[in-house]
Amino acid sequence: MDTFKLGENFMLGTATASTQIEGGDTNNTWYKWCQEGHISDSSSCFTACDHWNRVKEDTELLKDLNVQIHRMSLEWSRIEPEPGKFSAYAISHYRDEIKQLLANNIQPLVTLHHFSDPLWFQNMGGWKKPENSELFIGYVRHVVENLGDLVAEWVTFNEPNVYTTFGYELGIFPPGSRNLIESIKVKAEIIKTHVKLYNMIHKIRLEKNFKGKTMVGAAMHLRIFEGISRMGKITAKIVNYAFNELFMVGMTTGRLMFPLAGKGYRYEKGQYADFLGINYYTRNIVEFALDPSNYFHQLISDKNLKKSDLGWDIYPEGIYMLCRKYYHKYKLPIYISENGISDKNDSRRAQYIVNHLAYIAKAIDEGIPVDRYYHWTLMDNFEWVEGESAKFGLYKCNFANQQRIPRKSAEVYAKICKEKQLTEEMIKSFWK
Ligand code: BGC
Repeated sequence: MDTFKLGENFMLGTATASTQIEGGDTNNTWYKWCQEGHISDSSSCFTACDHWNRVKEDTELLKDLNVQIHRMSLEWSRIEPEPGKFSAYAISHYRDEIKQLLANNIQPLVTLHHFSDPLWFQNMGGWKKPENSELFIGYVRHVVENLGDLVAEWVTFNEPNVYTTFGYELGIFPPGSRNLIESIKVKAEIIKTHVKLYNMIHKIRLEKNFKGKTMVGAAMHLRIFEGISRMGKITAKIVNYAFNELFMVGMTTGRLMFPLAGKGYRYEKGQYADFLGINYYTRNIVEFALDPSNYFHQLISDKNLKKSDLGWDIYPEGIYMLCRKYYHKYKLPIYISENGISDKNDSRRAQYIVNHLAYIAKAIDEGIPVDRYYHWTLMDNFEWVEGESAKFGLYKCNFANQQRIPRKSAEVYAKICKEKQLTEEMIKSFWK
């Protein structure tokens, strides 16, 4: 590969999620999940990075990284603490946060649903009850009416495949179900809701004459699944279909593929995404396993590849493979809405970033419009079931005193953000 240019129009930034950084909220499903003891190191999202009280300080961190874009999420349970009752305080807090980004020329991409739901929503049956999706739609209406003058770009759902697989099939995220039939219904409901939200967000921003080009999409967790043995290859295809394809097709075209299609859904052929949001971390080798509790498969790591602290294989070419595949399928611009590594000692992060960006540069060079890269993540945070133990941050966060300290890789990333290219020195030090 001889070109590592990212191009003048390419934008770089960071991604975060409210439940993972804000702290202080007891009204969401993750708070309860922590209280019930499901977190490996017994930490709680109640602490996190106390970002709710440190927005100004954290905006300074973003400035120091020279980012042009930032992806953040809103905590539904803060904005709508009771069904139908909206908090003016929470809205004004988020308005202020977004204004701080804009004042620093950082363009926000705002996620509406990132793994957490209000407790009242879960108590009402959550996504398992199809009629409840109207509650989420009502919430989004309120948000877009009240923040849509500041925000043009929206992610409806973050990783609906992870949310449903972990929460409704494997039981490791709230609500902790292990019920495939239920999960299939929830998946279908989320896709239908996404289609409605896509239309609604465009409509509200148009009617209210809000400035900026409206961009709506989902952030999909996409993995490379590869089989080696004959059975492994067949199993990998099935896993890829169930994990990647069902939602990729659904969130982009509105189509409910087998086994999601249910009665009474009038599928209107269309395009319900203005960009393809791709969260990419790793590749898995797949093998068939006679184990119904794990849905007849096993994910194996490749002993020839370097690993993150969580044991995830580092496989940068995967990002290129996915961009190429899905651009050719949908012809939409691509936002890498997340990409990052858990690396406590910071011994692999700079290399991880450079190598993934090098493969993005290759895609761009081939005419694939990869427009954005949001690095996961700004600072160590509450990493769901891993709690505070998985260190994904460009900044180290000391959860006891809330001190943020830049890691070495933050310097490298800040330089890339500034120059929008991988320098010769970076290539020499990190490529492959
Ligand atoms: C999620 C993030 C998470 C990251 C690292 C993604 O699956 O969207 O919330 O922290 O991966 O595990």
